[in-house]
Amino acid sequence: MDLENIIKWCKKCELYKTCNSPIMWDGNFNSKILFIWEAPGAEEDIQWKPFVWRSGKVLTKILEWIWFYRQEDYYITNIVKCRPPENRDPKKEEIQACSPYLLEQIIEWKFKIIVTLWRFSMNFFMSNLKISQDRGKILKLNEFNWHTFDEDIYLLPSYHPAVALYSPSKIDIIRKDLEQLKELREKLF
Ligand code: URA
Ligand code: SF4
Repeated sequence: MDLENIIKWCKKCELYKTCNSPIMWDGNFNSKILFIWEAPGAEEDIQWKPFVWRSGKVLTKILEWIWFYRQEDYYITNIVKCRPPENRDPKKEEIQACSPYLLEQIIEWKFKIIVTLWRFSMNFFMSNLKISQDRGKILKLNEFNWHTFDEDIYLLPSYHPAVALYSPSKIDIIRKDLEQLKELREKLF
C-alpha cells in the first residue's frame, strides 16, 4: 500500500478521531526542497490541502517574491498530518507517532534541503536549537547525528509565517532566510 493510503487510514494517535481527514502535502515532490510546518489548521482540514489559510498565503507570497512557486520549486507538508482540536499545539506523542511518515517522504523523494517553519519541526530534527538564535542558519543534518539518510541534507530553520501577519517587519527577516535557498539550490543541484 502506498504512503498516501496508509496515512489515510492511520489511527496511530488520537488525532484521527477529531480531524476530518489527514492532510498530506502539496507542491513538487521532485523539487528536492521540502518545507515542514506544524499541523493543519481548520481551513486546511476543510479544503484538504496544507498551507491554504492566512499564514499559508503569506508564506506562499513571500516565496513568490523570490521566484519560488509551489507547483515547481518546493514541496510542503506538516510534521503532524491531522488537525489538532482547536488548533492546539501538537503533543510530543503525536509528533512521535506521525514523524515516521515524514521520514519516509524525505527518503522516498530524496529531499536535499529542508526548511522548518517554527519550533516543532525544527526541534524534531535538532532538539537543542532555538528559533531566536538559530533561524536563518544553514545546518547539515548529519553533523547533528542524523544518520537516517544516505546523503547530506541541509536544514534551514525559519519563523512561523504567522509572525508576518502580526509583525510586518518580520516579513523581511523571513524573506532573507528564504533567499538563501536560491544560492544553496544552485550549489547543490
Ligand atoms: N499551520 C501549519 O502548521 N500548517 C498548515 O498547513 C497550516 C497552518
Ligand atoms: Fe496518524 Fe499522523 Fe493522523 Fe496521528 S496525526 S492519526 S499519526 S496520520
